[in-house]
Amino acid sequence: MGSYYGCFDWASSFYDYSRAIPDDLMKKTVETIQKNVKIHSNSKILEIGVGTGRIAIPLSRKLKKNTIGMDTSEKMLQNCRKKTISADCIQLIVADGLSLPFSQNQFDIILTCHLLHLLPDVFQFIEKMTPILVQRGYFINLEAYVDYHQTIPFEIYYGKLAEAGFRHIHRGDLARRNLIIYLTKRGWNHINYKFEGEREISLNDLVRFIRNRVFSHQRAISDDFHQKSLEHLYNEIERNDIDLSKKVLAPAISRCNIFQQRS
Ligand SMILES: C[S@@+](CC[C@H](N)C(=O)[O-])C[C@H]1O[C@@H](n2cnc3c(N)ncnc32)[C@H](O)[C@@H]1O
Repeated sequence: MGSYYGCFDWASSFYDYSRAIPDDLMKKTVETIQKNVKIHSNSKILEIGVGTGRIAIPLSRKLKKNTIGMDTSEKMLQNCRKKTISADCIQLIVADGLSLPFSQNQFDIILTCHLLHLLPDVFQFIEKMTPILVQRGYFINLEAYVDYHQTIPFEIYYGKLAEAGFRHIHRGDLARRNLIIYLTKRGWNHINYKFEGEREISLNDLVRFIRNRVFSHQRAISDDFHQKSLEHLYNEIERNDIDLSKKVLAPAISRCNIFQQRS
C-alpha cells in the first residue's frame, strides 16, 4: 500500500467527497479565524499541506488576503487549482513542509489542517516553521472532519480488525496535545474552539470508503487484515439484511487552535 505518511496523490480522486464537512461548520471555523486573528491590509497567509484547498479557498475568499498553499502532492494541488476562480489570490507550490522554501519573517499567518499527524516529527516542523512567521505572527492548527467510527459499517469492520489485534492510534490527538504543550511552554498565547455538527451520508458510501481505504490510517492496515475484515463486513450486511441505501448521521467536528507568538 505504500507509505502511511506524506504525499496524497493516492487520495486526490476521492478526497473532497470523503472529507466533506457541513457548510455551517466550515463557515463557523472561517469566521472564528476572522474574529480572533488580527489581519491587516498586507497580511500574507501560508497553508502548509493545503491539499485540495478545502480550507484555504473559503478562508482566503472570506479574508480577501493573498494566500500561498504548498503541498507535496501535485495531484492534490491540481484539484485545488480546478476549484479556484480568477478572483482568488491563491498561489500553489509543490514543496515539503519540512524543507520550507521561504526566507525569515514572511508570513503573518501559517495554517495547517490535518497535516501534523502525517509528519514524522511535529517539533522539528515547528522549529522550521517559526522563523518564517513575522513577530507576533499566528500559527493556526485546524482539524475539520466527520467521525465515521460510530456508524454501523465502521463498527463492524473495525470490530473485526480489533479482534485480530489491530489498534487505531489517534495520531492527530497526540500531535495536537504535543503542539499545545510545546508552544504554550515557550510563551505563545493560545485559544481554542470546537464546533460540532452532523453529516448525512448513505451506508453505501461508508462501505465504499472502507473498501477503498480512503483514510490515511487505513493505509497502515495490511492487505490481508483489510480483506478479511471487509469480507466479514459484507457477510454481516447480508446476514442482518442491512439496507445500504439508508442514510445515517455521523458527527462532524471542527477544532480550531490559534497560537500567537508573544513579542
Ligand atoms: C489530510 S490532507 C489535508 C489537506 C487539507 N489541509 C485539508 O484539510 O483538506 C494532508 C495534506 O498534506 C500533504 N502533506 C503531507 N506531508 C506533507 C509535507 N511534509 N509537506 C507538505 N505537505 C504535506 C498531503 O499531500 C495532503 O495533501
